[in-house]
Amino acid sequence: MKAPALIAPSMNCNMYNNLVVQDNIDKLTSRGCHFVGPQTGELACKRDDIGRLSSIDDIVEAISDILTAKALTGKNVLVTAGPTIEEIDPVRFISNHSSGKMGYAIARSAKRYGANVTLVSGPVAINPPQGVTTAYAKTADEMYSSVKSLLPDNDVLIMAAACADFTVEAYSKEKIKKGGKLNITVNLKKTVDILKEVSKDKDGKIIIGFAAESGNLTENALKKLREKRLDFIVANDITDPRAGFGIDTNVVTIIGSHEDVVHYDVMTKDALAEKIIQKVVKLLGEK
Ligand code: CTP
Repeated sequence: MKAPALIAPSMNCNMYNNLVVQDNIDKLTSRGCHFVGPQTGELACKRDDIGRLSSIDDIVEAISDILTAKALTGKNVLVTAGPTIEEIDPVRFISNHSSGKMGYAIARSAKRYGANVTLVSGPVAINPPQGVTTAYAKTADEMYSSVKSLLPDNDVLIMAAACADFTVEAYSKEKIKKGGKLNITVNLKKTVDILKEVSKDKDGKIIIGFAAESGNLTENALKKLREKRLDFIVANDITDPRAGFGIDTNVVTIIGSHEDVVHYDVMTKDALAEKIIQKVVKLLGEK
């Protein structure tokens, strides 16, 4: 073959499951052809089964995967993403606007570079990335437990999650009734700063953080970089409409461990994820 070949099969489930088709898929795979899908879902005959063409996103991802040099083969990368939820009572909670898109893009990118990727995700409305081990954590405390137990097996931690900084002091098992009250006070207490805790003993690991700021971006990000002993920090101004929550773009400043500051133009979260992973590849190469 002169160029890599990717096949995205789409057919009725009976045809797909037929031994001859399966043998031919095995034969093509052994000759170096790549496959994406098919997916399970409603088929032309209305049956819900395997045979649907993969989504365009999955096909594009498979193409990018094939075309990316596997510079992270053998490396284990842990990524966190999304918000956390801190419950007040059985119906109410505190959370934030994080969509998880940035962390999920980083997980996909690391996987494309050949890493074994584990994603710890808060509650989000997007699908887990293909080929990535995804675990879910609802609260900041759960996220801390997951990161703490998974980190020893990883070479890199990228904390893209927007963990809650505060949780309720006392969860109410009963729904808090409004009764005749005009005001209500909910006492909050600090959650664990996961990055700060785990970077106390870095043990040669590369640890990367984010900084969501609404002012004094560089100054605040530098403070976080130092306090959390990061290899680099990716800071964004959340008041910039091109860098806010839920959208597909970001505008960032990246500060390295030598406090070198680089401002970037607006780019897609996918492009930023790739940039972050390329920096990780470089750092691992320097170790
Ligand atoms: N982070 C963390 N544990 C927390 C809160 C945040 O590990 N409990 C991580 C985030 O994942 C991010 C970095 O710390 O990588 C910075 O998060 P950010 O919300 O920007 O700042 P904070 O450190 O929480 O400080 P502040 O809210 O005062 O800006």
